[in-house]
Amino acid sequence: MINKSLISVVFCFVLATSAWALAGEAAMGSRSYDDYEKPEVCKSCHLDFYRQWEQAMMSQAYTHHWDEIEYFELAIPHAEKDEVVAGVREGCNGCHAPIAFLAGDVPPPRPEENSRANESVSCDLCHTVTGFEGDTPYNFNWISEPGRVKYGPKEGVQSPHHDTQKSEFLSQAEFCGTCHNEMSPYDQWVKATHLEWREGPYSKEGVRCHDCHMPRAIGRNAKMSDEDIVAQHLFHGAHDPGKLAGAVELRVHPDEREVPYDGAVQLSVQLFNSKAGHKIPTGSVEDRIVWLHLEAEDSEGKRYHLPVDLKGFEGEETTIASDVLAYQDMGIAKGIPDFPGVQRDGVPLGDRIFRMAYLDPQGRMTIQQWNTASFGPDYRLGPRETKIETFTWEMPDDIAAGEVEILAQLNYQKLITPVGEFLNVPAEEMEIVRINEARTRFEVYE
Ligand code: HEC
Ligand code: HEC
Ligand code: HEC
Ligand code: HEC
Ligand code: HEC
Repeated sequence: MINKSLISVVFCFVLATSAWALAGEAAMGSRSYDDYEKPEVCKSCHLDFYRQWEQAMMSQAYTHHWDEIEYFELAIPHAEKDEVVAGVREGCNGCHAPIAFLAGDVPPPRPEENSRANESVSCDLCHTVTGFEGDTPYNFNWISEPGRVKYGPKEGVQSPHHDTQKSEFLSQAEFCGTCHNEMSPYDQWVKATHLEWREGPYSKEGVRCHDCHMPRAIGRNAKMSDEDIVAQHLFHGAHDPGKLAGAVELRVHPDEREVPYDGAVQLSVQLFNSKAGHKIPTGSVEDRIVWLHLEAEDSEGKRYHLPVDLKGFEGEETTIASDVLAYQDMGIAKGIPDFPGVQRDGVPLGDRIFRMAYLDPQGRMTIQQWNTASFGPDYRLGPRETKIETFTWEMPDDIAAGEVEILAQLNYQKLITPVGEFLNVPAEEMEIVRINEARTRFEVYE
């Protein structure tokens, strides 16, 4: 008797723990919406964190218009036509609408229907995560155990609304990695912010994602709590021009300060990624571009655009702005046979682009990270890396004598303009942000 009930108790326990432990794809439909409290509940006490979260992309990961367009107009139709990528119909939600994913409500209702999918990456989702499955965090392989206990960074914190428990995991970069590393159905790392960080210098120094994106300050956790050092929920990234500003430092100099009017001058630009704990650009690298633009202005105000010198590495053409067409695989979802594609770059020809080209199974450039089967060269700026670009300029005979001013500008764009225009994405997503600029001068003599 005793043995039998013991066995059934053990059996039930095993069943229960295996249900608790579901992670990644297997967790779909394992919960209900009611298991998670709404952010508005947390707001009544954690007002500052709520206001910060509300302004960060975390609260808009599902509702943001470009996300809606990419999911409903590209990913879902593509998933219906191509078995290899069929899983993205559900999978996108594991990171962008995790509660809907756990509730098995996929595809979730459109944002305008105001369902709980709109909570996006919510307070209660993050604060019920207890760990992740496997060795490498990626593809939403976090484990969520919703309930009365809210996991946080501190021991013995008292709350009238819930229990609290200290979690080492939440305070580690691996937690962020569960959504900030992504592997495509073709087994390619199409998002690798945590892996880039792990390889780079900051992980060795113990500088975590949190230290730059959730900086600590003296403040209050909740309206009724005492002052303490608390993690600000800023999650600021590429949607914050101030975060981008100065992330890369620039200097430029000429090889000669005095050059004859029919001579040539070589300009060198040093670019130092001094601020980011990962590569620039990182994350949605299929959409993002960073480019270096150089202009000269002679003493009569005439302007010249200088193209960058080639370095000669394989696949370099993907890093030099050109007017070729690309992204033909959008035609699959859009139902346009033999879609010629749109302009690949949309920035001044000959500028250097810091990027890594994502290539579809046919070897064409794609912005559909789920349809990525290989990559072009990785020509991004690593954490604390410095790259040098040169510009050799054979000056025109009619250049005015006197001082020539050189202006180097480094620009950032979250989404390539021709793609955004083709998909009717709101213009703010294509905003050009100046990361930095630098100037130098030389004299032209006759
Ligand atoms: C009735 C007020 C109230 C509500 C509602 C509330 N909390 Fe709290 N919570 C507190 C207080 C008070 C503390 C303790 C703060 C302190 O002493 O620093 C706290 C602490 C926490 C902590 C910190 C734990 C740690 O280890 O540091 C987390 C995480 C947390 N709450 C999450 C949530 C989430 C998520 C929600 C919404 C689902 C929520 N809280 C709703 C009052 C509340
Ligand atoms: C030393 C500070 C630092 C650390 C550490 C750091 N970041 Fe960043 N992060 C930045 C800066 C600065 C930017 C803005 C430049 C950019 O967008 O690349 C940024 C941008 C981002 C972006 C937006 C990228 C884009 O272009 O869309 C994401 C996402 C991000 N970080 C996530 C993380 C994660 C996850 C980690 C940990 C694995 C991390 N960061 C570690 C400083 C840091
Ligand atoms: C993307 C995941 C994520 C979301 C969303 C999120 N948090 Fe947090 N929160 C964290 C992490 C990670 C920490 C611990 C930071 C650290 O260790 O530096 C934390 C810390 C806290 C703390 C304790 C702060 C401290 O330093 O003592 C409270 C309270 C809290 N969060 C409440 C909330 C509330 C309320 C919301 C929603 C308005 C929210 N969080 C949304 C990840 C999240
Ligand atoms: C449950 C999944 C999930 C977790 C866990 C998570 N993130 Fe995110 N994060 C996202 C998604 C999805 C976006 C993209 C939102 C969008 O633009 O649609 C994002 C965006 C960001 C951005 C970019 C904001 C911008 O302005 O472009 C930063 C920075 C960021 N996360 C930092 C972190 C840090 C730091 C952690 C760990 C403390 C973390 N995230 C944990 C899902 C997650
Ligand atoms: C493993 C988690 C994960 C999965 C799966 C995922 N995403 Fe994301 N997604 C993110 C994160 C994190 C970011 C933010 C990266 C950054 O800021 O650079 C992001 C960014 C985006 C962006 C750019 C948002 C912006 O504001 O610029 C779009 C659009 C997007 N995702 C759509 C999708 C679609 C569609 C799918 C499914 C095919 C998908 N995502 C699958 C985590 C994920």
